[in-house]
Amino acid sequence: MLLLQPLIGLLLISLAHGDCPILISPVDVVVEYGDSFSANCSSTDETIQFGLSWDGYDETMKKTEDDIFVDVTNWEMNLTCYMYSNKTKCSQGLPVTIYKTPDSVSISIVNHRGPMIEGQQYELQCDIYNVAPVQELTVKWYKGQTLLNQTTFTEDNKSPVNETATLQIRPDRTDDGAQYRCEAELDLGEDGPQYPTESLQPLSAELHYTPKPSSSTETIIKNDEVTRTCTVKANPAPTYTSHSEHLKEEISSSVLQSPTLSPGNYTCTATNSLGSDSKVFIIESKESRCPIQLVPWRAVVRYGDSVAVNCSATVPHKGLGWEASEGGVPMTKDKKMITWRVSHLTEWDIQPYCYINHEKQCQVELPVTIYKTPDSVSISIVNHSGPMIEGQQYELQCDVQDVAPVQNLTVKWYKGQTLLNQTTFTEVLLHKP
Ligand SMILES: *[C@@H]1O[C@H](CO)[C@@H](O)[C@H](O)[C@H]1NC(C)=O
Ligand SMILES: *[C@@H]1O[C@H](CO)[C@@H](O)[C@H](O)[C@H]1NC(C)=O
Ligand SMILES: *[C@@H]1O[C@H](CO)[C@@H](O)[C@H](O)[C@H]1NC(C)=O
Ligand SMILES: *[C@@H]1O[C@H](CO)[C@@H](O)[C@H](O)[C@H]1NC(C)=O
Ligand SMILES: *[C@@H]1O[C@H](CO)[C@@H](O)[C@H](O)[C@H]1NC(C)=O
Ligand SMILES: *[C@@H]1O[C@H](CO)[C@@H](O)[C@H](O)[C@H]1NC(C)=O
Ligand SMILES: *[C@@H]1O[C@H](CO)[C@@H](O)[C@H](O)[C@H]1NC(C)=O
Ligand SMILES: *[C@@H]1O[C@H](CO)[C@@H](O)[C@H](O)[C@H]1NC(C)=O
Ligand SMILES: *[C@@H]1O[C@H](CO)[C@@H](O)[C@H](O)[C@H]1NC(C)=O
Ligand SMILES: *[C@@H]1O[C@H](CO)[C@@H](O)[C@H](O)[C@H]1NC(C)=O
Repeated sequence: MLLLQPLIGLLLISLAHGDCPILISPVDVVVEYGDSFSANCSSTDETIQFGLSWDGYDETMKKTEDDIFVDVTNWEMNLTCYMYSNKTKCSQGLPVTIYKTPDSVSISIVNHRGPMIEGQQYELQCDIYNVAPVQELTVKWYKGQTLLNQTTFTEDNKSPVNETATLQIRPDRTDDGAQYRCEAELDLGEDGPQYPTESLQPLSAELHYTPKPSSSTETIIKNDEVTRTCTVKANPAPTYTSHSEHLKEEISSSVLQSPTLSPGNYTCTATNSLGSDSKVFIIESKESRCPIQLVPWRAVVRYGDSVAVNCSATVPHKGLGWEASEGGVPMTKDKKMITWRVSHLTEWDIQPYCYINHEKQCQVELPVTIYKTPDSVSISIVNHSGPMIEGQQYELQCDVQDVAPVQNLTVKWYKGQTLLNQTTFTEVLLHKP
């Protein structure tokens, strides 16, 4: 209630339009071409004698006293109410927005017929026929339900126009079969049209793209009763060939049935008119896999630190053990998991492996990297003492004491905060500093 009082005051002042005591009701009009509306013109000041008249009135309109009835047939209509009294003469205009929803909206591809090709750029065109007012028009571009972009128009034209909007697209393989459409929307508030005009028929994009498998290799264990196919999505539909180095003939099928194939690497190639791509199936004999899992699969340990690696059997077994010059675990029959553990690892060349006895014995080696940060790093000038002389060449030397492994060492040279160069070491020395 407290807020309402000043609000009403404000409203009256703005309706009175400065000093002109005219009230037009409604204050503005949004109307479809061909429809009709009526408006009132009255004085807000009852104390003065006045006369009112409408300017812009023509024979298509009807009038009673102060009311005016209009059938909208003139795009350029201007209505102004004038007031005359022996005190004032003033006027106020009635803004009238006349709209027309499009006769039709249609979408097409510019200068192109037939399927589009992945990765190339195309231009979509949306034609909107007979719409007004163009400055309130928004063309929205959709792919399926996704709004891609929108276009607005800056021209100022009250009468209907034909408009063309364009959109650049570069479709990818996921866009095959996508439906593009455009919508023409007149944003005129509550009194305007509430729904956009959609393009009559969406544009169904047929797309051509090359085969591309989701991964480039896949390993299959022979005797697993599996059938793999290297079928991939591509348009036009690809043809398939499979071959292996140890086979003379090609398999002209996309289906690989592992029990019938000898172990080896099989390359399956899918080809269509745009290109081809391959996937390699590695068929391993079951025996070549040792049923052991190391967690972690490799160890990176600081010199002198502790290390622990679990070795688990993935099948029932007759014995499981760790072999190592330190921390070895003798063969045990009743455990599914055994741990190689060293509390102070100081042996540079340690090569532990875990072994299992099931059908026959096999082993998995644990890669171990032992590292040591340098005891000291020092910089000096080679064969020189005292100040250097401008323009002469000097050699800087960096001595790194007691570091391992050297193939993983990088020496970086800085001047202030600027990296000048860096040196890596390719020698694979013994794992010793
Ligand atoms: C015109 O004024 C009369 C009385 O003041 C009112 O009843 C009528 O609704 C008004 N018409 C319009 C279109 O505002
Ligand atoms: C309406 O006003 C505009 C600009 O004020 C003018 O160009 C146009 O001719 C007017 N139309 C009519 C029908 O008077
Ligand atoms: C306006 O004119 C009327 C007569 O037409 C007169 O009675 C009235 O006093 C005048 N008002 C002013 C403010 O001059
Ligand atoms: C939308 O279109 C405008 C003008 O054509 C362009 O500048 C803008 O990058 C487009 N936006 C997107 C998301 O495509
Ligand atoms: C719009 O296009 C239609 C059909 O091509 C044509 O008849 C009409 O004259 C055009 N309107 C304008 C304003 O250019
Ligand atoms: C099969 O491929 C794997 C991995 O690419 C490779 O290590 C192996 O040597 C290949 N085997 C044959 C028989 O070519
Ligand atoms: C090894 O196994 C033990 C017991 O299950 C577990 O506590 C430990 O976290 C495991 N270590 C690693 C490196 O996974
Ligand atoms: C440094 O000087 C010594 C003797 O002065 C010389 O034997 C050696 O080769 C020099 N080293 C370099 C890198 O120039
Ligand atoms: C050390 O360097 C070798 C050779 O560059 C690399 O194969 C190895 O993965 C590196 N070790 C670590 C722990 O990054
Ligand atoms: C960095 O050092 C390498 C080998 O010492 C040399 O070939 C290269 O030119 C140096 N780069 C710069 C930017 O000094």
